[in-house]
Amino acid sequence: MKKRIVILGPFGKVGEPIVNLLSQEKNCEIYALSKLTQEKAKHWKNYHVNLDIMDFTELRNIFAYSKPDIIINAAAYTNVDDAEVDRADCWKLNVDLVNRLVRFAKIYNSHLIHFSSDYIFDGEKGPYLETSRPNPINFYGKSKLASENQIKLAKIKSTIIRTNLLFGHTSLAKPTFISNLIDSFKHNQKVKVAESLFSNPIITNDIAAGVLRVILLEAYGIYNFSGPNYMSRLGVAQAVADVFGFNRSLIIPCSLSEIEFQARRPIYAGLLNQKAAKELGMQFQNITDSLREYKSIMELNQTVRNIANIKHFHN
Ligand SMILES: NC(=O)c1ccc[n+]([C@@H]2O[C@H](COP(=O)([O-])OP(=O)(O)OC[C@H]3O[C@@H](n4cnc5c(N)ncnc54)[C@H](OP(=O)(O)O)[C@@H]3O)[C@@H](O)[C@H]2O)c1
Repeated sequence: MKKRIVILGPFGKVGEPIVNLLSQEKNCEIYALSKLTQEKAKHWKNYHVNLDIMDFTELRNIFAYSKPDIIINAAAYTNVDDAEVDRADCWKLNVDLVNRLVRFAKIYNSHLIHFSSDYIFDGEKGPYLETSRPNPINFYGKSKLASENQIKLAKIKSTIIRTNLLFGHTSLAKPTFISNLIDSFKHNQKVKVAESLFSNPIITNDIAAGVLRVILLEAYGIYNFSGPNYMSRLGVAQAVADVFGFNRSLIIPCSLSEIEFQARRPIYAGLLNQKAAKELGMQFQNITDSLREYKSIMELNQTVRNIANIKHFHN
């Protein structure tokens, strides 16, 4: 029998690679819920359901119709700085929505797969294990921890996937730290990068592959999805310059205090991934291999765009 899967945030950085992967699986019936018009979401016209996920009446209707076996929540309020001032909206999306999803999971006996963040920790002693004690230091982190707690308290089948600094190709999602770096380097612009802020960067295709394992193995509980390299932002910028063939002199190392953030950042954040390796068999790629994969995907997409432009020119 086909598995019915509802996904929220399908055009986000994490959501899009998940839909790409699941749409290749024959036994999945996907409902990708997003605000996008059918025109913009045309490459997934078979799965796309146009709705505002914060309209809980519409949401209830689509759940009643789809009765999902699996709910994947990749939607979130993810702007860490804006969250400090826009607290109500952040809470609505990161906590109130999750409360609804927990209720739907109860009604339809669905497996809820939810994403969380290394920002639930204070960054004193990272990288962190699944069992480490959370202590968020900014509002975004507090909202992510509150969403986790709602899921942990509910008696439902659930998986919380914590991840951290990520990158990967998407067609519509907002830029990442790494895509911004590449854009600046391409324009020969110097970039100030913090010597601190540690994490374990991961490519989003690896996250999607891990989600598929979670579904197939029906793995419940908390899992860290993170790469094997524990690096500062400066280290990440240097790896990007090396793999993409830019000069490291474009990187200006600076202290954290020189960057104006609205929200406090956990300095030694990051996540250890041994549990995902042991229980899910996931070997997340190292930084060099994952950046090389990202570069190949970008080049392939550029080639496809060039061919499309030539065809358009001839028509
Ligand atoms: N990005 C990171 O570095 C990072 C690190 C750690 C953890 N995470 C976690 O990973 C998960 C996914 O993050 P991400 O980076 O993929 O986020 P993202 O790129 O910002 O995507 C979030 C998605 O949620 C959608 N959304 C927001 N409000 C909506 C609404 N009212 N109706 C319909 N859709 C709405 C957004 O659509 P619109 O663009 O149309 O608003 C967007 O597609 C989140 O739980 C996040 O906390 C991310």
